[in-house]
Amino acid sequence: MDGRNLYSRRFFLKTAGFFSALAAIPSSVKSLYYDARRLIIPAKQKSKLNLIINKTSHKLEVDTRTTLLDLLREDLHLTGTKKGCDHGQCGACTVHINGERQLSCLTLAVTLPGKEVTTIEGLANGEELHPMQAAFIECDGFQCGYCTPGQIMSAIGCVNEGHTGSVAEIKEFMSGNLCRCGAYNGIVESIQKVAHETVHI
Ligand code: FES
Ligand code: FES
Repeated sequence: MDGRNLYSRRFFLKTAGFFSALAAIPSSVKSLYYDARRLIIPAKQKSKLNLIINKTSHKLEVDTRTTLLDLLREDLHLTGTKKGCDHGQCGACTVHINGERQLSCLTLAVTLPGKEVTTIEGLANGEELHPMQAAFIECDGFQCGYCTPGQIMSAIGCVNEGHTGSVAEIKEFMSGNLCRCGAYNGIVESIQKVAHETVHI
């Protein structure tokens, strides 16, 4: 018997075993399992939500489980905000809420009634780039660009919070934004440039 047949035979036996075991579970136990699932994963609920996104007012109806990140990307098609880890680890989804940097993947949309959200799409003034966007271009603050919207939103927060006293301080306060391309030197340089040119942006 060759390896491939052995593999198929094993796969068949394992699969058959799994389904026989499933069939052997008493139906009372199965229904307990399904009841428990219904409790853990609640039914869809919708909620009305007024939100200002990039200076435009939106009247929305959202599933209460929707994150701000999914609302932006899936419902409003503002795909500039990136989904990296979806678990608060990479910073790719950083946006501003009432002027402060926040992770949109960890923010439920329903918790934001009346708040002002700014995404990377809302930074430029028509054709004129935001100073941080211009600095990223000038200082080579990116390579593939996937992390860049989150880096820029976070970099603006870093400057506005006044955490630009040294390279070490910038690195510390930008440590929540990961870049797999390793464009960190250019990112720090961009932040220094903007911090030097303006006190508040
Ligand atoms: Fe939100 Fe990674 S996608 S922190
Ligand atoms: Fe590629 Fe940061 S520029 S991940």
